[in-house]
Amino acid sequence: MYEKIKLTYKYHDLEPYIDKLTVKTHYEKHLQSYVNNLNTILKDYEEFTKGKTIEDILGDIDNIPKEITQGVINQGGGVSNHNFYFSILHPKSKGKQKPEGKLMEVIIRDFGSFEKMKTQLSNASISQFGSGWGWLVLDENGKLQIIKTMNQDSPLSLNKKPLLAIDVWEHAYYLKYKNLRNEYVKNLWKIINWSKIEEIYESYNK
Ligand SMILES: [Fe+2]
Repeated sequence: MYEKIKLTYKYHDLEPYIDKLTVKTHYEKHLQSYVNNLNTILKDYEEFTKGKTIEDILGDIDNIPKEITQGVINQGGGVSNHNFYFSILHPKSKGKQKPEGKLMEVIIRDFGSFEKMKTQLSNASISQFGSGWGWLVLDENGKLQIIKTMNQDSPLSLNKKPLLAIDVWEHAYYLKYKNLRNEYVKNLWKIINWSKIEEIYESYNK
């Protein structure tokens, strides 16, 4: 059985950048639906899931039986993408506004500056047509990249490892921001947990 992550903050802790009701609904309703649907789809496929995280499965999507592939992409992506997104947010008061150390070095190496990376990821997220995600990822050659994915497609299925995720489905921002996706994306930068992302980056380099 796959599960949603435990949040390390309270629903209201991301205010005023993301409101309590949005976090609660997003986590308890949207993410929970993805979890329930994924578990239903995989119920009779234990031989394919045994001992595997949903990230393992999404990274090897060609080996999932054809009849459930799209369901796993949609629902499994929904679980993995959201677990990742909620894991890299935190209250603004908690931390620094940019990364340090090795991660900052590679951001500068691959984008020229932290601000340039931010602008590229913001633009990719804002311009994603319809529902989807903006990502900072580590590619198969160890380079950082900005990509966007449609719907719940996971970067793992493109052989890219996520470092930062921006959910641009309307359910992520509509209650507070209505149609102003750009305002939501701008504010999201204030509640990014850079210490966590540094840890994730280190874990990919082990
Ligand atoms: Fe979402």
